Amino acid sequence: MKKYTNAVIYRHGDANEILVDNGVIKAIGTNLGPADEVIDLGGKLVIAPYVDPHLHLDYVYTLSELGQAGAGSGTLFEAIEMWPKFKETLTVDSVKKLATKAIRDEVSQGVQYIRTHVDITDKNFTALRALLELREELKNIVEIQVVAFPQEGMYTFKGGRDLVEEALKMGADVVGGIPHYEPAREFGEKSIYDTLELALKYDKLIDVHCDETDDPNSRFVELLNAVVLMEGYGEKTTASHTCSFGSADNSYAFRMMDLFKKSKMNFIACPTENAYLQGRQDTYPKRRGLTRVKEFMEAGINIAFAQDSINDPWYPMGNGNMMYILDNGIHLAQIMSPEEIEKDLDLITYNGARCMHIQDKYGLDASKDANFIVLDGDSSFDVIRNRAPVLASVRKGEYLFKRKPVEYEVALDLGIKY
Ligand code: FE2
Repeated sequence: MKKYTNAVIYRHGDANEILVDNGVIKAIGTNLGPADEVIDLGGKLVIAPYVDPHLHLDYVYTLSELGQAGAGSGTLFEAIEMWPKFKETLTVDSVKKLATKAIRDEVSQGVQYIRTHVDITDKNFTALRALLELREELKNIVEIQVVAFPQEGMYTFKGGRDLVEEALKMGADVVGGIPHYEPAREFGEKSIYDTLELALKYDKLIDVHCDETDDPNSRFVELLNAVVLMEGYGEKTTASHTCSFGSADNSYAFRMMDLFKKSKMNFIACPTENAYLQGRQDTYPKRRGLTRVKEFMEAGINIAFAQDSINDPWYPMGNGNMMYILDNGIHLAQIMSPEEIEKDLDLITYNGARCMHIQDKYGLDASKDANFIVLDGDSSFDVIRNRAPVLASVRKGEYLFKRKPVEYEVALDLGIKY
């Protein structure tokens, strides 16, 4: 039996101890009694591990690999057009090598759950094979869900939709889609019907790249929500991006939010990625590229934040630090009131777990796996304001890593005291 003591435990009031037996949380409380090993957490904040519910692990670091060939003007559609040239050069080993580097980035900064969209518009399924192997090889360190994502569309060429089905048969966990990239609205709509049909046929989750455009007339989220509402499949469905919803008229948006509440569909926003990609054709005022995060939170619609890209043709930056994603997101979405700050950490933890549909096993509760991270601060406000680093990540009661807070060889001395 292990006891973590002297901790501030997220959403557990005055409790300051976590008792762990065989990798599972036995109790959370105060004065939990003796244990074989007692670990003092120094008054730091303990929260459930970070969740990155939207990351393209087959694209990571390819921008650097592409060199000048990867440098574009920075629009989403240009990056999609550029990608196939590089895709031809991928091997299973090259994908695994770069993906492993990004997984290390994320896990070393507190992530333990990743949903990755993998481009399956490739008859050899090179990236999919690589990620399915990594999902298995790294399962004791990080839980990876693989989305069968048709980056080049289901209907921009013959057989696209069948590649999605084949990827699901090969073991992908989630059906993906990209209706706003299909060559006509009718094909975008058809792809949404296909997505649900395939999810039901193979008992998979759904995560659609939905309306990742500034065009307020791109309203595939409306159809996606309607079909999953009818089927009772909303909690297993996620609409990623929905940037255009940030440009929608209020009368439409609020009508739709009522319907989103009914379906319980999940949403993911990628604050850094879409702040960079969207609004490129705007002069001024320039749109922020984000969906209605604040209003979703107020309405009780599940919304999570995600990294999306790390150094790929869509976005040159990114380092897998979810606290940076949160920091950008709370600025862009203007969610910093005291009440909002209390919920903001959920955007990179519990809300992402709901998108991944792992909420029943995720979180800091007795009888769940002892998975948690320790942040260098003592409250939600403190860690968010300071963009606090992760000091330790614990998985099934064992350290994935542990490090010390920053230490100075020469400490700053202002020469005055107050
Ligand atoms: Fe994406």
